[in-house]
Amino acid sequence: MQSGTYLRNGPGLWHIGDYNFRHLFDGYATLVRLHFENGRLIMGHRQIESEAYKAAKRNNKLCYREFSEAPKTDNFLAYMGDLASLFSGASLTDNANTGVVTLGDGRVVCLTETIKGSIVIDPDTLDTLGKFEYSDSLGGLIHSAHPIVTDTEFLTLLPDLVNPGYLVVRMEPGTNERKVIGRVSCRGGPAPGWVHSFPVTEHYVIVPEMPLRYCAQNLLKAEPTPLYKFEWHPDSKGFVHVMCKASGKIVASVEVPLFVTFHFINAYEETDEDGRVIAIIADCCEHNADTTILDKLRLQNLRSYTGEDVLPDARVGRFIIPFDGSPNGKLVAALDPEEHGKGMDMCSINPAYLGKKYRYAYACGAQRPCNFPNTLTKLDLVEKKAKNWWDEGAVPSEPFFVARPGATEEDDGVVISMISDKNGEGYALLLDASSFKEIARAKFPYGLPYGLHGCWVPKN
Ligand SMILES: [Fe+2]
Repeated sequence: MQSGTYLRNGPGLWHIGDYNFRHLFDGYATLVRLHFENGRLIMGHRQIESEAYKAAKRNNKLCYREFSEAPKTDNFLAYMGDLASLFSGASLTDNANTGVVTLGDGRVVCLTETIKGSIVIDPDTLDTLGKFEYSDSLGGLIHSAHPIVTDTEFLTLLPDLVNPGYLVVRMEPGTNERKVIGRVSCRGGPAPGWVHSFPVTEHYVIVPEMPLRYCAQNLLKAEPTPLYKFEWHPDSKGFVHVMCKASGKIVASVEVPLFVTFHFINAYEETDEDGRVIAIIADCCEHNADTTILDKLRLQNLRSYTGEDVLPDARVGRFIIPFDGSPNGKLVAALDPEEHGKGMDMCSINPAYLGKKYRYAYACGAQRPCNFPNTLTKLDLVEKKAKNWWDEGAVPSEPFFVARPGATEEDDGVVISMISDKNGEGYALLLDASSFKEIARAKFPYGLPYGLHGCWVPKN
């Protein structure tokens, strides 16, 4: 195991005073740090000091709009003192509880769906250093929670809620300025589809237009709606657009079957014998076009497991987007969903294969019956097989791949996950990425909340 630090972000605190939140995604961000050095592991964790978190602590009540929670209007107005701010987006949270990325310039940024919830932290001390201020004038309230980050660029999508579409933007290391690559106009309505994540290939940005669409009214509504900030519009259909990274031109835009995904896994270009691109393959954790997963993530459901199988089915959805001008793309299962218990989410790959033809992915699958993804799964998309790690009552977080220094094989490295054990305890688990067998586990001195997404910070 190389020396370095694995950071994991996620909602970790679901109450303020004696008020309990309702949804997994509402919790205030908790960072966990696993520092590997000379065969030793040092663990730490800390809350991110967002304005939303600090205001809640100070006032002992919710002061900003979280995923499914909104402050009472008079509370918020008393706090902000301005009716206009209620409608300007000022009431939206900056609780950066979703992901954490290492930029090409070494800065470490925690992110969520709101643009204001971009927060720079110190990966050694987990100190909150301050808001990541975008220096451009692109504005907007929301962006993809999962930018594509490499040593040379940061790519993200900015949904346009007024004139439905997406801006595809790039930011270079060492700057805070996002520059527009191009714009995609939605083909369905009434709003852009939710883009929690999106994939890229070597030359293209793939823009999914999911029929689960943002709803500006729900974004500002006081009470939770059935689909939170979104609405399901099957009549509006689903589309996938392909934008050239260099020119910003749309090179393909196809209708696809209805789909629901939070997380894309990877994408790549399929070429003919002459090296011409004939199609894009884009894989995601696909929930069989069923939106009920969003509601199943309410804390009440997660905390009241009765032994019944209540986790909705999911699969590795593979989009095939032809480049021959056909109006339709395909969506198929990349392998038999029985291989991973018909559960599928929280994925990672070897980052060296980002945007390239790849074979392996790591994700959370299901050992039924269950109410939550409860296995670690290695997907072999060539042999169409999965290897599953499972321990009764244990809930693993996103398996994160770290390559062995000098590795040449795609799966030569380790997979890190943090496990919430059935007795309330927890441990860090290291699996050999090739055999998917346990190498080591390190028990935490106390249990930690479930978390979402992580990143690797190399030593120095
Ligand atoms: Fe996510």
